[in-house]
Amino acid sequence: MKVTVIALGYVGLANAVVLSERGFDVVAYDNDAAKIAELKKGKAPFDEAGLSVALYKNRKRISFTNDEKEAYTSSNVFFVAVDTPALPDGGSNLTHLNEVVSCVEKYVKEESFLVIRSTVPVGTNGKLSASVKSLSGARIHIVSNPEFLAEGRALLEERSPSRIVIGSNEKASRDLLRVLYRKAISSGVPYYEMDPASAEFVKYASNLFLALKISYVNELARLAEPLGADIGAVTLAMGADPRIGHSMTKAGVGYGGACLPKDGSALQREAKELGFRLSLVEDASLVNQTQPFFFYQKIVKRLGPLSNKKVAVLGLSFKAGTSDVRHTVADYFVKSLLKDGAEVRSYDPSAKARKAFSGLVAVSHKHIIASTLEAALTGADAILILTEDEAFASLDENKLLRAMSGRFIFDGRNLYDTRHFRYFDYVSVGRAEHKPR
Ligand SMILES: NC(=O)c1ccc[n+]([C@@H]2O[C@H](COP(=O)([O-])OP(=O)(O)OC[C@H]3O[C@@H](n4cnc5c(N)ncnc54)[C@H](O)[C@@H]3O)[C@@H](O)[C@H]2O)c1
Repeated sequence: MKVTVIALGYVGLANAVVLSERGFDVVAYDNDAAKIAELKKGKAPFDEAGLSVALYKNRKRISFTNDEKEAYTSSNVFFVAVDTPALPDGGSNLTHLNEVVSCVEKYVKEESFLVIRSTVPVGTNGKLSASVKSLSGARIHIVSNPEFLAEGRALLEERSPSRIVIGSNEKASRDLLRVLYRKAISSGVPYYEMDPASAEFVKYASNLFLALKISYVNELARLAEPLGADIGAVTLAMGADPRIGHSMTKAGVGYGGACLPKDGSALQREAKELGFRLSLVEDASLVNQTQPFFFYQKIVKRLGPLSNKKVAVLGLSFKAGTSDVRHTVADYFVKSLLKDGAEVRSYDPSAKARKAFSGLVAVSHKHIIASTLEAALTGADAILILTEDEAFASLDENKLLRAMSGRFIFDGRNLYDTRHFRYFDYVSVGRAEHKPR
């Protein structure tokens, strides 16, 4: 069977690859010509574990195209993964989804299925189903199939998802999706069919629960320090209760990325329109927005006046394992340091993340984006760790002593035991500061 994947970002490209691995012939379309040109050469447009190898292995079953007509006339099943960014009022910008719907209406000549993988406001499927109308008169079914993957693990999670959620009340759509997911269903992946609004809601409910967990621990971390408690010890013992668990309970400088921040504001916006206030979601978002500020105050307090201090900022993407810099906390920290007069050497192991970051914070004589870890560390008065990259979790103290001028490590991800470093002031989140012996 042939299927078309529309929009080849983090979600769409993982979808295209895994559909081809499951034996489907995939036409993969994006309206970004440069991205398609790279993909045609076999190059991954962003960093994602296993992506380059998977693109190579499946090259015979995926054809990449930038030709709109070819994309919309090559099959009657369209998986759609366009971005749905936040509008200034917090709502979701559905411009790209509407563009896709218009193309489907224009081109399809036979009964077709539009499977929405993008995160969209609850009720979008209902509205589209009521309004969609092909020029040819062919029936168009709208199916909700929210995506739950996490960047950095996109292919792994696409191959073995925690669950598959299908939102449709129609037999034809449900039957088709069961065929498309036959292999995953038979391997035991939980498979839930429900009405479209519930399926759309599952996505927000899941993401916002993750945001709540993270912000809950980060808020506790603020209190742990003055109380003399260690948030790492607290969450370790707390998470041993299977009702709580350990995932997403690590204190840090807050979450970023293209999903959690915007999904929180989108659902709040939708609730507000209906006269509700989602106070927990609101507070989780507020804790997250202020968490970097709390950590920054510790840097200012410990490092003193920042003017001309050299700070190596490690980790520019929003989390380890991805080159995505959307809503990265590094943006806030680097801009704040520069504003306060510091000299910043920022670094990320991903060359794509470094390039993307230069679009967020301009390079200048005060801000250099180093291409190696060593270059970032040389002459630094302090290190600021912002992601959990392996390279930052295994810093060699002797090398640091030789390379750096100062003796401060600010660890925004609690990667080390508080007593790990012998000769550095080690400052982390929700734990006692450790001074050199
Ligand atoms: N990134 C994640 O971790 C993740 C996880 C789950 C769900 N989601 C949701 O999935 C959706 C996609 O997210 P993403 O991070 O993959 O987006 P992205 O920004 O990485 O990619 C979006 C792609 O859509 C393309 N595009 C835009 N308009 C188009 C059009 N009219 N025709 C063809 N292509 C078009 C862009 O060129 C781009 O390549 C969003 O709704 C997001 O909330 C994302």
